[in-house]
Amino acid sequence: MPLLAIQGCQWGDEGKGKITDYFASKADVVVRSQGGNNAGHSIVHHGKRFALRSLPSGILSSKVTNVIANGCVVNPSSLLEEIKGLQENGIKDFKLLISSRAQIIMPYHIDLDKAKEIALGNSKIGTTGRGIGPCYEDKASRLGLRLGDLLEKDYLRERLSETLIIKNMQLKMYNLPPYDFETLYQSLLELGEKLRPYITDTSYFLNKCIKEKKKILFEGAQGGMLCLDHGTYPYVTSSSPLATAIPLNAGIPFNAIDDVVGLVKAYTSRVGEGPFPSELFGDIATTLRDRGHEYGTVTKRPRRVGWLDTQELKYIKSVTGITHIALMLLDVMSFTDKINICIGYELDGKKIDYMPSTISECERIKPIYEQVDSWKEDISNVTRYEDLPINAKKYIQEIERLTGFEVCIISVGPDKDQTIIRKEIF
Ligand code: IMP
Repeated sequence: MPLLAIQGCQWGDEGKGKITDYFASKADVVVRSQGGNNAGHSIVHHGKRFALRSLPSGILSSKVTNVIANGCVVNPSSLLEEIKGLQENGIKDFKLLISSRAQIIMPYHIDLDKAKEIALGNSKIGTTGRGIGPCYEDKASRLGLRLGDLLEKDYLRERLSETLIIKNMQLKMYNLPPYDFETLYQSLLELGEKLRPYITDTSYFLNKCIKEKKKILFEGAQGGMLCLDHGTYPYVTSSSPLATAIPLNAGIPFNAIDDVVGLVKAYTSRVGEGPFPSELFGDIATTLRDRGHEYGTVTKRPRRVGWLDTQELKYIKSVTGITHIALMLLDVMSFTDKINICIGYELDGKKIDYMPSTISECERIKPIYEQVDSWKEDISNVTRYEDLPINAKKYIQEIERLTGFEVCIISVGPDKDQTIIRKEIF
């Protein structure tokens, strides 16, 4: 399939970096279409771990063109830091294009993100503090600055002078100091000059690639349950990680994508606040967290962990249409006698077979579990499905039965080689 998309099906951190990197070796182009440096993809490349934030996961391969598309929000200084980090690690020969239509995360977005979280107190979202929400807010309220604006000296001066008046008023509301126009303007011009070689019309580029039948991989960021529309609002991010949003966020025809692979962890994790029906606590949570290295790539926060929730997966399936998945981190589950699988919810004493839309209902949900036998064998070196322990195979089959997903890839470790392919896709 020439156009493949990857989408996280839980609350993010499903291992998109590894799978994108896996497919990137077969791709001509890898695209990030939403989010910003709130995402954190770790990729193990020739034994070295790279933590990518805004850069697409194809960046380590010199033959891949990497695109940061119009639906993204970009922090220019942090992106330049990432680029510097690559260069310092010997990755110098990379191809990167950034959409002139992508929004700029301004320093005041970060201030406002943090100030809002403080003001919300106990109701805070638990954001990554990277200014993502305030940047998308400005996009929607037409106060945003875009990467292309950095290259137009006069326009940038005009635009910034208009928007900064309003932003400084907002900062004042939170008792934060204002930004000096001239200092900010000069620093933006400088950043623009450094990024100039990469900034272009990426929609035009991608449409050309589609015509030329190039293989394009759309790399997801965050996960479906963090979608601004369909996630556990307001405990979500400010864009849509669903594959259905990609055409808009990349400027390509709605029907251009041939296939979507959903990414599902063999358990569940979540960073930040918000409902998590199958959450675990105590010793078992600690073991699962440590075995899965569940500490944020961006913020280093310990992630909340829990059992696999197939009701949540069925919901994501219903709002996206995804039919097959990559089951990630299966090796992490080789530690317990029994595994619980959440197969549905109880709300106020009644069984329900849907995901409630209000946060108060989501918080009242009680998970209904089914228990299956586990396996204790180390499976991190297994390369064929047939060689997995019988109970691991049964776990996979049960997930398929409960969700209707077909498990086409199984990941048993962080390295590219630790991947079992049941069905060739890309
Ligand atoms: P924001 O995207 O920084 O505004 O954070 C909003 C919510 O999304 C918080 O709960 C974050 O922890 C979560 N979030 C944002 N990006 C990621 C990610 O890449 N992985 C997991 N959670 C994320």
